[in-house]
Amino acid sequence: MDKFKNLRGTFDILPSQLVKWQNIENIIKIQLSRSFVKEIRTPILEMTELFTRGIGENTDVVSKEMYTFKDRGDRSCTLRPEGTASVVRALINNGLSVKPQQKLWYMGPMFRYERPQAGRQRQFHQFGVEFIGYKSYRSDVEIISLAWDILQRLGIKHLNLEINSLGNTNDRKNYQQAFTKFLDKNYSSLDSDSQKRVNKNPMRILDTKNKDTIQILKEAPILVDFLCDESLERYCQIKEQLKFLKIPFEENYKLVRGLDYYTHTAFEITSGALGSQATVCGGGRYDNLIKLMGGNETPAIGFAIGLERLIILAGKEYENDRLVDVYLVSKGSSAENYAIQLTRKLRKLNIITELDTSGTSFSKQFKKANKLNAKSVIVIGEEEATKKEFLIRLFNDQYKENKEKRISFDDDYELVKWLKTNLREDL
Ligand code: HAM
Repeated sequence: MDKFKNLRGTFDILPSQLVKWQNIENIIKIQLSRSFVKEIRTPILEMTELFTRGIGENTDVVSKEMYTFKDRGDRSCTLRPEGTASVVRALINNGLSVKPQQKLWYMGPMFRYERPQAGRQRQFHQFGVEFIGYKSYRSDVEIISLAWDILQRLGIKHLNLEINSLGNTNDRKNYQQAFTKFLDKNYSSLDSDSQKRVNKNPMRILDTKNKDTIQILKEAPILVDFLCDESLERYCQIKEQLKFLKIPFEENYKLVRGLDYYTHTAFEITSGALGSQATVCGGGRYDNLIKLMGGNETPAIGFAIGLERLIILAGKEYENDRLVDVYLVSKGSSAENYAIQLTRKLRKLNIITELDTSGTSFSKQFKKANKLNAKSVIVIGEEEATKKEFLIRLFNDQYKENKEKRISFDDDYELVKWLKTNLREDL
C-alpha cells in the first residue's frame, strides 16, 4: 500500500527538532510574563464570516488563502489564518467592556493556502501579542520594543525594523483617492496583477514585487503627505521615542500590510537571512476593528511572529536537549521490581530518569546509556537486589574520575546527598 503523505505545506515536528522549538517558546513565555502579558487560547476553527469581515474580503488572505468548508450542520467554517480577529471575537463575547485594557498573547497553528516554499507553509505557527484598549502612542512604542527585545533576547542578528503610518480612516480615504487617480493615469503600464488590484485593493499595489511597477510607483503620491496634523504628530512621537530607545528603524512609505484592519502604525521586522520570505514579525494598530466586529469603540495594537521563521533564524545553542541524569539498568525479576520503584522515587526528586526495560545483557544496556549521553547509571543486578542496595556511578567522560557508590534502597538521605554532590546542585 502507498504510504500516507503529509498534505502539501504541512510538516511533522519531530522530537529532535522540538528541542529548539521548546527552548525558544520558553524564553518567549518568560519575556511575556515579565511584561505582564497574559495568555489567551481561542479555537482554531471559527465562523468564516469572522475573517471575511475582520481581515477584509479583498485581501489575499481572505480571497485566496483560507481553508474554508461546510460542517455537517451546513455552517461555513474556516481554519484560522491569523489570531487577531479571533482574539477580538473572544473579548467581545466574554464582556470586553468589563475590563477595557488587556495585554494578551497567544501561540499556535494558523492556516493559509499559499504556495509552499522555504519559510512559507500552509500550516504554520505564530505567537502574537495584542494590547487591547491602549490608545497612547506610547503603547505603539511598547509593542514595537516588546517584539524587538524578544528577537534580541533570542540572539537574532541583522534585523531591520520598518515602520509606516497609515493614518486614520479619513487620511487613508484621501490618500486612496489620490493614489487611484495616479494608478488610472498609469494603468496601461502596470503589471497585470496590479491592474486587477486597482479597483479591488489598490493599496496592496504598493507591495508589488514587479520591477517595472516598482519603477512607476516611484512617482506615486506617498501616504505620509496625506496624514492630518494629529496623525502626523502621533507618527513623529513614535519615531522620536524609538530613537530615544535606540531601536534602529527605517521608514517605509510603501508598507501597508496585507490585512485591512490597520490604522496609524504599521510595522514589520525582516531579516536578510530568510530569503524571499523575509518578514519574521508583522504588526500594527487596529483602532476600528473591535467596533467593526460588534464591540465598543476600542483602540488596539499588536503583532505576530512566525515561529518557523524564528526557528530558522535562531542559533544552534537552542538545539541542546537536557541530558538524562540517571539511566537505570537492571536484570533479574526482583532487581527489575526494585528498579521501577527507584525510578519513581528519582522522578519525584526531579531527577531526569530513563528506565531500561529491555531485560537484555548489562553490556547492551550500558551501550544505550552511553548513546543517550546519560550523566550517571544506576545498576541493580541479582546481587544488589538480594542486598537491597544499588550501585550509582557517574557515567559521562566529562566527569574525569569515576565516582561510584553503593546505597541501600531505604537510604534516601545518602541518595540525595550523592545526587547533590555529583549531579545536581539545585536539588
Ligand atoms: P501577518 O503579517 O499576516 O500578520 O503574519 C505575521 C507573521 O506570520 C509573518 O511575519 C510571518 O512571520 C508569519 N507567517 C505568515 N504567513 C506565513 C506562512 N504561510 N508560513 C510561515 N509563516 C507565516 C498577522 O497575522 C497579524 N494578525 C499580526 C497582528 C497582530 N497585527 C496586529 N496584531
